Amino acid sequence: MQLFSSKERVGKSIGFVPTMGYLHQGHISLVQQSKKENDITIVSIFVNPTQFSPNEDLSKYPRDYDRDHQLLLDAGCDVLFYPDSEEIYPKDFQTFITVDEITQKLEGEFRPTHFRGVTTIVNILFNIVQPHKAYFGQKDAQQCAVISKMVDDLNMNLSIVVCPIVREDDGLAMSSRNVYLSPSERNDALVLSKALKEADSLIKKGERDSFRIKSEMISILKSVDTSEIDYAEIVDFKSFEKVSVLEEGKHYLLLIACRIGKTRLIDNQIISI
Ligand code: PAF
Repeated sequence: MQLFSSKERVGKSIGFVPTMGYLHQGHISLVQQSKKENDITIVSIFVNPTQFSPNEDLSKYPRDYDRDHQLLLDAGCDVLFYPDSEEIYPKDFQTFITVDEITQKLEGEFRPTHFRGVTTIVNILFNIVQPHKAYFGQKDAQQCAVISKMVDDLNMNLSIVVCPIVREDDGLAMSSRNVYLSPSERNDALVLSKALKEADSLIKKGERDSFRIKSEMISILKSVDTSEIDYAEIVDFKSFEKVSVLEEGKHYLLLIACRIGKTRLIDNQIISI
């Protein structure tokens, strides 16, 4: 990886992958996509304190700088931005960005200050890096929608690219948090992807009643003792409004947030009728 002066950026397209580190193949797929579409790919690693609430353990978030650095070198990342917390949030920091409606639902109900922290850090990083395109993973579907709304509403001069969820061979969506799971919890965690798969297959068979589809997801999630469901929902793809009947020609998201033991996992699937 190398340093680029502002002169060297001129005329070059910049792709940006913001991360909180502890990288996995999901992050690397974003780097690969950025490399395909841009001259320079910049990755940031910053565990952002403002998106954690006091009851979520920021200090325990997994970190492994050396491993991340090597993975990024192997992936051909051009620049790694690895700021300190004090550089990003100096003592007198007092400005936050809030997207109103879409942040109140689902994740917002369970993590009320989370998206304010995300939109604020993403803004700060965009201002520092000044990318032409920024890459996010579909696994954080609501985060992608919130960031896209912010970019649209504030006429920010970049494009958001959302890349598909990357899964382990057995279906578990890749996440830095999977490291918290014990071997038996890792097995139980498969109920998230199974519930989505089963719901998708019901819809493919013609089921349109969201209550029945949700009931199926919930019963699969509850089939393991370690699970505690925050939500299992069907929402409109754009507005994140809950729906009761699925209509032809529309796009939806099946969304799950579920604790397996102490680890909170999220997963989702896009549905087009
Ligand atoms: O998705 C994440 O890892 C984080 O929410 C992000 C976008 C890097 C902001 O801290």
